Amino acid sequence: MSHSAEALPMSSRRSGPLSGEARIPGDKSISHRALILGALTVGETHITGLLEGEDVLDTAKAMRAFGAKVERVGEGEWRVNGVGVGGFTEPEGVIDCGNSGTGVRLIMGAMATTPITATFTGDASLSKRPMARITDPLQLFGCEVTSREGGRLPVTIKGAVDAAPVTYRTPVASAQIKSAVLLAGLNAPGQTVVIEAEPTRDHTERMLTGFGAQIVTEVTDEGHVITLTGRPELKPQPIAVPRDPSSAAFPVAAALIVPGSEIRVPGVSRNPTRDGLFITLLEMGADIRFENEREEGGEPVADLVVRHGPLKGVEVPAERAASMIDEFPILSVIACFAEGLTVMNGVAELRVKESDRIDAMAVGLRANGARVDETRDSMTVHGMGGLKGGATATSHLDHRIAMSFLIAGLASEQPISVDDGSPIATSFPDFLPLMKGLGGDLG
Ligand code: S3P
Repeated sequence: MSHSAEALPMSSRRSGPLSGEARIPGDKSISHRALILGALTVGETHITGLLEGEDVLDTAKAMRAFGAKVERVGEGEWRVNGVGVGGFTEPEGVIDCGNSGTGVRLIMGAMATTPITATFTGDASLSKRPMARITDPLQLFGCEVTSREGGRLPVTIKGAVDAAPVTYRTPVASAQIKSAVLLAGLNAPGQTVVIEAEPTRDHTERMLTGFGAQIVTEVTDEGHVITLTGRPELKPQPIAVPRDPSSAAFPVAAALIVPGSEIRVPGVSRNPTRDGLFITLLEMGADIRFENEREEGGEPVADLVVRHGPLKGVEVPAERAASMIDEFPILSVIACFAEGLTVMNGVAELRVKESDRIDAMAVGLRANGARVDETRDSMTVHGMGGLKGGATATSHLDHRIAMSFLIAGLASEQPISVDDGSPIATSFPDFLPLMKGLGGDLG
């Protein structure tokens, strides 16, 4: 399901102090994985807290197309009756993953070692994004791939008949590449090994462990070495999806930049592979308290209490980029309200997300009065303790770009508009009511 073809202009205005509780939806990364692993498991996987955004609903539809029974039984509550490792049936139609890079890349991995053929497509944003980074390692398992020029969608994969296990060193820090290879390795005999120089989000490894697969991560001089033993019999697990730290970042940012604000954000994942933004914000002097730190559904979570206060610019080291890769757009907004330079290093991957996020933020922030420098793999914001506003930013079919500018407008001198807020439904369908409930003036 792609979001509405019609553009949905939105804008936000300087708001009074934000207050109250922000109940963030389920984690997008974990939601995709819960549906896919549930589909690869014989028996019933019960999921609670699933993110019901368009990206995840597209993955649910895809899992049905591959033969799993996927049912919604209540709000965020889903049941998946899977077909087992290697049990996917050939889909009758084309698999449309809409806007979701995670969806298409993980599903390609999950089917690449089963002897069936599937064709994948997506919206205008997804059709521009690189897929060779996934199909190259998948071909090592023995599948055949056809794609548009440059490995772009639509892509057709003819799954391997006798898959061979693979050892693969990821060329860029990407949990999607790692996960696609591991999911393909499930239906290959022997050991599939992924080596990553910088650790990336580890939800696939955690969830595979929960489902009973043998998967080991070793920290070596080469980086993280993840070894999966193929052909496991996955056992259904109840999955309680924690709240998404990448979505929490938006109300957290709003509370930090709107004077007088204090909000509470319960039950947010504090998985160390996703925690880079919070570490950076604390370095900037942000008033954030982590309460009730606990474990839920195999992931560390905490309740956040966030208060407005003065912020200073910082330098974010390249090694931290993977642990906050989706949070740089909103960090660049926060950096405008800090005093001094914020330098974001090692962020070249932002150029191949739902949009070129360095460019989209730099252009939109400059139009609204900020000073922003960019190189191929860095972005620098000259923080001036505030933002003028007054201009319309282009969201480029990118949910996080749209939300970032709407948050900026809550604290800028003049309103800020975005040309199209409809992509927000891919990851955070209740963004507007949630922000309004905290006192934000936007719509
Ligand atoms: C994701 C991994 C990240 C992230 C994306 C979700 C995942 O992409 O940007 O939103 O669920 O594995 P890369 O792994 O390609 O950096």
